[in-house]
Amino acid sequence: MRDAYIVQSLRTPGCKQNRGLFNQTRPEELISFIMKTAVDRTKNLEAKDIEDIMLGCAFPEAEQGINLGRLAGQMAGFPESVSGATVNRFCASGLEAIALASMRVQMGWSEITMGAGVESMTYVPMGGNKPSPHPEYASTHPEAYVSMGITAENVASRYSISREDQDNFALESQRKAAAARDGGLFTEIVPTPAYKFVQQADGTFKKEQFIVEHDDGIRPTTIEGLAKLRTVFSLKGSVTAGNSSQTTDGAAATIIASKEKCDELGLAPIGRLVTYATIGCKSDEMGVGPRYAIPRALKQAGLTIEDIDIFEVNEAFASQALYCLRELGIDKYMDRVNIHGGAIALGHPLGCTGAKLTATCLANLKEVNGRYGIVSMCIGGGMGAAGIFERL
Ligand SMILES: CC(C)(COP(=O)(O)OP(=O)(O)OC[C@H]1O[C@@H](n2cnc3c(N)ncnc32)[C@H](O)[C@@H]1OP(=O)(O)O)[C@@H](O)C(=O)NCCC(=O)NCCS
Repeated sequence: MRDAYIVQSLRTPGCKQNRGLFNQTRPEELISFIMKTAVDRTKNLEAKDIEDIMLGCAFPEAEQGINLGRLAGQMAGFPESVSGATVNRFCASGLEAIALASMRVQMGWSEITMGAGVESMTYVPMGGNKPSPHPEYASTHPEAYVSMGITAENVASRYSISREDQDNFALESQRKAAAARDGGLFTEIVPTPAYKFVQQADGTFKKEQFIVEHDDGIRPTTIEGLAKLRTVFSLKGSVTAGNSSQTTDGAAATIIASKEKCDELGLAPIGRLVTYATIGCKSDEMGVGPRYAIPRALKQAGLTIEDIDIFEVNEAFASQALYCLRELGIDKYMDRVNIHGGAIALGHPLGCTGAKLTATCLANLKEVNGRYGIVSMCIGGGMGAAGIFERL
């Protein structure tokens, strides 16, 4: 197999569903902007050099439909020759897209590709606009359609993850995120145009642009404040709005090139995807996925947990993230885990998350001068995914 090098990896800020700063900015606008910016910011690269785009999206319908992988490239002003597909592995869609884009280059089927992710949970809510479980299958397998919050409660109760531990984990996520924002450490974020429709004197609405620079879900948080929150998914449970990931809008893009093209065009590699693993688990406790996917990826790469400098483990819920970190012994290395916070503070824009965490992982590896990073997440339906990146 050939080497496939990452030459760019960027993301938009993540903004809260419905009440956030992207609530009138369509997903096509977010993703086409970050795709175009990824090309513009890559020295010696032109849009015509990209051969194919893989775009992750967890609910590819309505505003996110019509094969956004192709449409967004066209909206970004890329030439007609740049093809595109939309791929869906729910919360791992963005990472799946980067893996597929890397594999095309490794196989020799493409020279330069883009792996990206987008989700506007404002425009297309989780579950889609018309959820329609299969009637007979749903009656015999209700767990296949269970709410993600209930799976988080199941992990908490089955594996004894206390409310107090979940809240402390959430507090840390918020604290690290605020510190990173205030310290200017989110170097992977691109200030992104957003839109709002402002009513004019004559009653018509004018589309006005403004720029969003930061993730807008980071909030001042205390342990007392978290402890007061009521549980959301089960009366007697422990999962609250404060220790769950936020529902969010965002987009991210990574550009991958063969070694030959890097040499020919003078592109500077910043990293590579070493390996990628997925694995299934019980759907009613889907949050345990990373506990199985991370060891599989490490084995494939011939690495151990001690070799990993940066862990970006998606905080779908504090209960499942904590469970996985503890089971794998990664909790001994918390100074390497989600060093600038995770989805509890920064949001989890479903299909974008894998692409977003890839950009964050590469930026954080650079910041700590590390070599290997892991991006991992649990996946609705009962799965885990893990990608290992090497900084070059
Ligand atoms: C949990 C969830 C339902 C909460 O949604 P929400 O109600 O819109 O969340 P909000 O941000 O409005 O927070 C609810 C309340 O908690 C409070 N709150 C949230 N975080 C807080 C914090 N860190 N500290 C103190 N209070 C907090 C809010 O102020 C709000 O209070 P209010 O009702 O008095 O205004 C939603 O975030 C969710 O579904 N998350 C999981 C998403 C998911 O399943 N993803 C897929 C995973 S596989």
